[in-house]
Amino acid sequence: MTDHSRARHVAIIMDGNGRWAKRKGLPRAVGHQRGVEAVRKLVRSVGDMGIDCLTLYAFSSENWKRPEEEVDDLMNLMRKFIKSDLPEFVANNVRLKIIGDWQGLAPDIVAMLEDALEQTAGGTHTLAVALNYGAQQEIASAAAKAAASGEVTEESIAAHLYTADLPPLDLLIRTSGEVRLSNFLLWQAAYAEMAFVDTLWPDFAPEHLHQALDDFAQRERRYGGR
Ligand code: FPP
Repeated sequence: MTDHSRARHVAIIMDGNGRWAKRKGLPRAVGHQRGVEAVRKLVRSVGDMGIDCLTLYAFSSENWKRPEEEVDDLMNLMRKFIKSDLPEFVANNVRLKIIGDWQGLAPDIVAMLEDALEQTAGGTHTLAVALNYGAQQEIASAAAKAAASGEVTEESIAAHLYTADLPPLDLLIRTSGEVRLSNFLLWQAAYAEMAFVDTLWPDFAPEHLHQALDDFAQRERRYGGR
């Protein structure tokens, strides 16, 4: 029997790096650096938490509107993160997956990601990173592909989403006290539980995820039934 109290797929909108830095009188870039540290610690601990897939919103298709310097900082952090953490992913059976229009990123990042995808293809837990991702674009493009196949149904659209090979989304967490989805996993969130926590992303530790998973296990999911 399926264990309904276990979250197999958890997604996180990592928010609050800027506010974390501002409160400490530090540059925003430091907030993002600490945000990467929080990612690293979390990825190290998910294997022990029984989660099959962790999906992180790292860069939205709207984030290009940020000042160029900040976009550059985020891209450089991405480069550094892949370079430094790839061996650890391979050693810990983490399968990297990228969702979003990532082929539109800088050519060197695309090449690094292609290599990382190849090296981690055999992993048993998935870390899905959303890069240049927007849910409305994802749904529109999946619907267009479904139409081209001659069959427009919920199943055929879902089969063309970036997440087609992932377990259904169980739990969506957003940090920093903001209560909105910001164009993230709109289709996939249809029956997901939501957790909005006040913690700013750089302060989000594995204990916070444990807490969210405990709360999830207490909830009764109805999927529209009674
Ligand atoms: C939100 O903070 C966070 C982001 C825009 C990006 C999240 C990115 C990281 C944690 C670093 C890169 C990730 C990886 C996987 C290498 P914000 O700047 O919107 O904060 P604010 O709302 O307080 O200003």
